[in-house]
Amino acid sequence: MPEKDYMARLHESADFIKTKIGGFKPEILVTLGSGLASLADLVENPTVVSYRDIPNFPVSTAPGHDGAFYFGKLAGKNVCLMKGRCHCYEGYDMQTVVFPLRTARLLGVTQAILTNAAGAVNTNFRVGDLMLITDHIKISPESSLRGENLDELGIRFPDMLHAYHPDLQATARNVAHECAINLREGVYMFFGGPQYETPAEIRAARVLGADAVGMSTVPETIAANHCGMKVLGVSLLTNMAAGIEKRQFVDGEVLEEGLKAQPRFTKFILGCLEKM
Ligand code: HPA
Repeated sequence: MPEKDYMARLHESADFIKTKIGGFKPEILVTLGSGLASLADLVENPTVVSYRDIPNFPVSTAPGHDGAFYFGKLAGKNVCLMKGRCHCYEGYDMQTVVFPLRTARLLGVTQAILTNAAGAVNTNFRVGDLMLITDHIKISPESSLRGENLDELGIRFPDMLHAYHPDLQATARNVAHECAINLREGVYMFFGGPQYETPAEIRAARVLGADAVGMSTVPETIAANHCGMKVLGVSLLTNMAAGIEKRQFVDGEVLEEGLKAQPRFTKFILGCLEKM
């Protein structure tokens, strides 16, 4: 049997989810990076749809990322939370990584809060800081838009001028001010992983203008801009990037810092949701 095309598979996934959520209309997608998983517990009367049950859905193998969508009210908004997401380093191509986000678009979502754990490249930043993503750098040639254009979702050559939407950035700054959170700002640079970067790669990233590095978010941001979704990007800086501190990473450090930051990160995202 010939494989169904990508757009048909997206519709099939969205139609399946609609049978689970009834008339509920999600407006905002939130991807939960390390340190935010507990946000899912705050959704009121959630409808939980496991990725495993959704036809065509990629399932993450990363620790702390096994996944489900949580649909419901959070901070007064109709949300669709992604608890768990898959990454390119697991062997998925970018088109597959962004499949859930595009499915959310078909369900009516128009804004996305994309969160992640990242390594700090800017030496003025500290472990545990939150960083508002103002822009990104991706030098790998792969793109979530590569291949035949999905005309139903967006145009062939979308611009990335406001990849991280200025209005949502302004909202995030206001919320940080109100919550007395020292919100850092900067450029997130995508590395494919799963290996961490070399010290030379981090020096190069700094020269290029990066303030943080990580292995997610950029494929989703590109796909979101393509399909007309506004993006707010937030990184939790879980470690100083390679070579800044003269020591090796300890396995589990990223998840541990994520847990520590959870209350602050949660408060911040709830504040943003309220104002979106
Ligand atoms: N590099 C890449 N991805 C990351 C890092 C890092 O230092 N920390 C958390 N995710």
